[in-house]
Amino acid sequence: MTTTFTVAAGGSLGGSLRVPGDKSISHRAIMLGALAEGRTTITGFLDGEDCLATLAAFQAMGVAIERPEPNTVIIDGVGLHGLKAPAAPLDMGNSGTAMRLMCGVLAGQAFDSTLVGDESLNRRPMRRVTEPLARMGARIDADGDGTPPLRIHGGQSLRGHKHTLAVASAQVKSALLLAGLWSEGETCVIEPAPTRDHTERMLQGFGCTVRRERRMACVTGDTPLRASPVEVPADISSAAFFLVGASISRGSDLLLQHVGVNPTRTGVIDILRLMGASIEVLDRREIGGEPVADLRVRWAPLQGIAIPTELVPLAIDEFPALFIAAACAEGQTVLTGAEELRVKESDRIQVMADGLGALGVDCEVLPDGLRIQGRSRLREGVVQSHGDHRIAMSFAIAALRADGAVTIHDCDNVATSFPGFAQLARGAGLGITAS
Ligand code: S3P
Repeated sequence: MTTTFTVAAGGSLGGSLRVPGDKSISHRAIMLGALAEGRTTITGFLDGEDCLATLAAFQAMGVAIERPEPNTVIIDGVGLHGLKAPAAPLDMGNSGTAMRLMCGVLAGQAFDSTLVGDESLNRRPMRRVTEPLARMGARIDADGDGTPPLRIHGGQSLRGHKHTLAVASAQVKSALLLAGLWSEGETCVIEPAPTRDHTERMLQGFGCTVRRERRMACVTGDTPLRASPVEVPADISSAAFFLVGASISRGSDLLLQHVGVNPTRTGVIDILRLMGASIEVLDRREIGGEPVADLRVRWAPLQGIAIPTELVPLAIDEFPALFIAAACAEGQTVLTGAEELRVKESDRIQVMADGLGALGVDCEVLPDGLRIQGRSRLREGVVQSHGDHRIAMSFAIAALRADGAVTIHDCDNVATSFPGFAQLARGAGLGITAS
C-alpha cells in the first residue's frame, strides 16, 4: 500500500510559510562537506529521502556525519583523499542528482564502487555522465542501455578535459567539475544554455577557485576544499506548488519565506509572471553565496502563453506545477524544447497529460512538450502520479480549481523532496488528507 492524497475541491491559500530546504544545495553541501578539510555545519538541510541517500553514501565511505536535529548536519570532512571503500553498493534511491554527481566523485577514487537505485532511477539515462567521464580516463560500466547499476573502477588516473555538453544539465556539469577535483590539470564544462550553478558557487565557498567565462566553468585538479558553514535556503522548486496554487485560487494571498532565488532557478517566477501572476520578490538578500528572498503571491487571472524556450532549463523541475497553471489559464499554453521532461523521475510530459485528461483538460502531447487548453474549472477525478513526487504535489494543488475532489495515487515519493507537504499545505488552506 502506498500513500494516496485526497484533496477537497476549492478553497484558497493564505498565511506565511517556509517550505523545506533546497534539494540541489543540500546534496552538494553533504558532498563538499565530506570532501573538505575540517568540520562543516549545514543548517536548513532538506531531510528528504534523496538527500539522506547522499548522506548515507558518505557515511558508508567512512565519513563521520551527525544530525543533532533533522535539518542540521555536522560533517567531519576527510579531505579529497580520505574516503574509504564502501562495504556494499551505494543506494541512491530515487535521486538522479545523487547518482550522477556521485559518479563524478567516485570516478577519481582509489577503490571500486557500485551505485544502485530504485525502479525509477534504474530506468534513467547515465551515459550523459559516464561517456564524458570516460574521456577523462574514468572506467564505469553500466547496463547495456546505459542505465544503473553503475560499476565504477577505482585507481584510474583522470586527466582534465574541456567538455562541450549536448544537453543543458546541471547534473552532468556538476559531475564533471567534481571529477575535475581528482584530475590532472584543468577540467572545463561548456553548457549549451545556463543551468543551475550551485556547484560552482559552493565550490568557491569551500575555497576552490572556479574559473567562469560566459557558459564555461573550469576547476583545477587537487585544489583542497576548506570546510565552510552552509545555510540552505527554502527550495524554490517546492515553493512552486504554492506559487501556482495561490495564483489559481481566488482570494489567495500567501507569503513564502526565505526562498532561494538564484537566477538559474527562477524561471518559474518569470513564466508565471508572463501568464499574469502576481508575485512580489521581497527583501532580497544573499546568504552563503546564494540569493534569497521572501515571495508574496496573490490570486490573479492567468492567460495562456507560448513558453519561451530559453526559460526551459531555468524552470526544468517546475513544469508539472506550471502545467496546472496552464490548465487554469484562459486560452492555450504551449511548451516546446523540453524533451528532458521525458527522462525525469517519470515521463513528465505523458504522465501530466494523462492526469490533466482525467480532470477534463484538453491537451496535445508533443515530442518535446505539451499544448494545454485552459478551462475555468477542472473536473473531479483520480490521477496516477507514477511515483513521481512533483506530479503528486502538482495535482494536489490542482484541486483548488476543481469541481470535486481530486484523488492522487502513489504519493510515497513526495518524501524524497518535500517531507511534510500535506501538513504544510493543509495549514495554508488546502483540503488535503493523506492515507
Ligand atoms: C538538478 C539538476 C536538474 C534537475 C534536478 C536537480 C541538480 O537535472 O532536474 O532535479 O541538482 O543538479 P538535470 O541536470 O538532469 O537537468
